[in-house]
Amino acid sequence: MRRLFAFLDRRTTELAAEPAINRVAAYTSEAQLARERQVLFRGEPLLLGLSCELPGPGTYLATSDSGVPILAMRSRAGELRAFIAICRHRGAQVVDDGAGTHPGRFSCPYHGWTYDEAGRLIGQPCEEGFAGLARDTLGLTALPIAERHGLIFVRPSAGEPIDLDAHLGGAERELAPLGLEHYRRFARREIERAMNWKLVIDTFLEAYHVSSLHARSLGPAIFGAPAAWDAFGRGGRLVAARRSIADARRQPESDWNLYEHSVVLYQLFPNTMLIYQVDHVEVVQAFPGRGGADTAKIIFTLYTPTEVVDDRARRHFQTNFDLLLEVTEREDFRICEQMQRGFHVDEAATVIYGRNEPGLAHYHRMIRQALDEAG
Ligand code: FES
Ligand SMILES: [Fe+2]
Repeated sequence: MRRLFAFLDRRTTELAAEPAINRVAAYTSEAQLARERQVLFRGEPLLLGLSCELPGPGTYLATSDSGVPILAMRSRAGELRAFIAICRHRGAQVVDDGAGTHPGRFSCPYHGWTYDEAGRLIGQPCEEGFAGLARDTLGLTALPIAERHGLIFVRPSAGEPIDLDAHLGGAERELAPLGLEHYRRFARREIERAMNWKLVIDTFLEAYHVSSLHARSLGPAIFGAPAAWDAFGRGGRLVAARRSIADARRQPESDWNLYEHSVVLYQLFPNTMLIYQVDHVEVVQAFPGRGGADTAKIIFTLYTPTEVVDDRARRHFQTNFDLLLEVTEREDFRICEQMQRGFHVDEAATVIYGRNEPGLAHYHRMIRQALDEAG
């Protein structure tokens, strides 16, 4: 809050050392997208959801949003597990995308091969058809999965366990006290838009556009500047100030509560924004869409600290969810689709991330770094 007040006094905001330049091809290139799918959407831990998405022993969640069909579950004994949901027989998806309870085994809908909750193949109708093949080599491929601070992450490629501290890069110190492990899902919505998936994240990494694009919607409540940015490893955190912060200044510092006077947006690298709004949390996730680099699949989820039981609370959270969808869909993503079309006019063109948009510069530097490191 001291930092935000200092910005207010000087009529400025968080500034990077210099403006940064990115090629528009980063948003249009199918070759780059192919690398992003491999390096980011398979190589990085992705947020699967808050812990409530797997509410107890014997529950599962199947999703192919990342491009890899993933079967995540808690075993009947409560152990968290994840597998590639591709049948070892001829490749059918063992479980349709969705969620529910499971009886400790999963039967492929195509020919009925059955796997147990450890991924072992335990049933093959007409077993003699596969004589000579060692059944114990035909289990589902296990994926690293980890849960911490009420967040579940999966890495969609087999290998080392997920190092969540390294991945969160310090954000865990702020996420831990939020009590996300108690949150419940209130609403979820999935859309496709004609814009690169990274533009979804860009939308939430600066407040600069609030006073112009959102002048009538969010502008009356939230400042375009000041905003504070901090990197946490490859991700980071943007704190956008609510206009009410000016009142807080008159209170003694011991009464200051940053959360009351701001919107805190965590960028969980590579494809998730977790937005803390005090009485609820919004998660926005971006994936490449069916149409490649020019399309994004976007999933919005609103979580509440406790189960919503009465109508008044339900209306309150529904209003918040509707506002999130309306503002992003009608205002932000409308502009993003125009940008995406504009990028194709000259693919050698560039975009500029101003010194006052340090979150964007960091995000795109980290994407390039991840792609470069992967070679
Ligand atoms: S593909 Fe799954 S049983 Fe044949
Ligand atoms: Fe916006």
